[in-house]
Amino acid sequence: MSYTIPIEKSTQSRLGEIDFENLPFGRILTDHMFEMDYLDGEWTNIGIRPVKPMQLSPVNLALHYGQSIFEGMKASIDADGHPLLLRPEMHAKRMNLSAERMCMPTIPEELFIEALEKLVYLEKDWIPKISGSALYIRPIMFAADEFIGVAPGEKYKFFILTLPVGPYYSKPISLLTEQKYVRAVDGGIGEAKTAGNYAASLLPAKLAKKKGYDQIMWMDAHEFKYIQEVGTMNLFFVFKDKVVTPATDGSILKGITRDCFIKILSSWGHRVEERKISIDEVIDAYDLGDLVEVFGSGTAAVSTQVSKITHKSKHLVFSEDRWTLSKKLKTYLNNLRAGNLTDDFGWIVKLEEEAFV
Ligand SMILES: Cc1ncc(COP(=O)(O)O)c(C=O)c1O
Repeated sequence: MSYTIPIEKSTQSRLGEIDFENLPFGRILTDHMFEMDYLDGEWTNIGIRPVKPMQLSPVNLALHYGQSIFEGMKASIDADGHPLLLRPEMHAKRMNLSAERMCMPTIPEELFIEALEKLVYLEKDWIPKISGSALYIRPIMFAADEFIGVAPGEKYKFFILTLPVGPYYSKPISLLTEQKYVRAVDGGIGEAKTAGNYAASLLPAKLAKKKGYDQIMWMDAHEFKYIQEVGTMNLFFVFKDKVVTPATDGSILKGITRDCFIKILSSWGHRVEERKISIDEVIDAYDLGDLVEVFGSGTAAVSTQVSKITHKSKHLVFSEDRWTLSKKLKTYLNNLRAGNLTDDFGWIVKLEEEAFV
């Protein structure tokens, strides 16, 4: 199905004011955004319009009870100037999974993708050309009702925002296993990309920073034994004979980079296991010399190497010469995103002019 998405163009572009050599992350919006409202059981008021501030009632339901979900993805540009998206349908599906868990309306996948493609094509001059830079895309939905009371909203707002961001040079991170706080518990909302999960992580992350660590390694909420994920990344443990990533059991986010890495690694002949992995298994393998490297996967940094893991009084230290697979994966995915490789997996959506005139 093709949707009619009217475009109201801004009268004055801010593009000329942007210093593409020095882009801060998450602070510069492009000229336009996609917008729609959910009213009386259907999505309406659909359109691409100039970005503008919005008015919010002090009794906005999402502010009080947290019905707010979002996505995070990137658009890049190939050498011929075509905008490229990586697996947009996966983001549409995950947005709807989050919506279902948070008792919010779903969005027809075709509408989500069409809105995304139209907006990115309109803003294609905002896609940074510097290698590693990208146009960050932030779809967000929240309850728009104006009353106080714990109940699912009946009105929702959905936006897609686009922000040019600089190259994300991730430096290796040190991790502290969390022994008191939990991010998510099975049966909870850990698998949803919802605001509350990030709010829950702030205090423990702040305390870990005070102790000199970059991030928390979240553990399961029952025994503090099984590893979940890190900040805004999924985790991979590279052993001599296999690669293990924690299974998505409902309490961790089903990362799209994670899924890409599993498929790329398998195609390279690696044995990849998605299963429970305990901190004890990781420590034992480290002591035996069987653990080669540990890295995180996520849209922002693609892969991020782990330089240290501390669990109680035990320190696992990884030196730079171990980081082989994480670097290879990052280079591969960045090249795929830049249109420099054959798209063997069929993940890249190229936005061609003819579709948008
Ligand atoms: C909690 C959490 N885990 C993992 C990820 C990685 O997911 P993706 O690879 O889809 O960016 C993210 C980033 O969105 C996240 O916020």
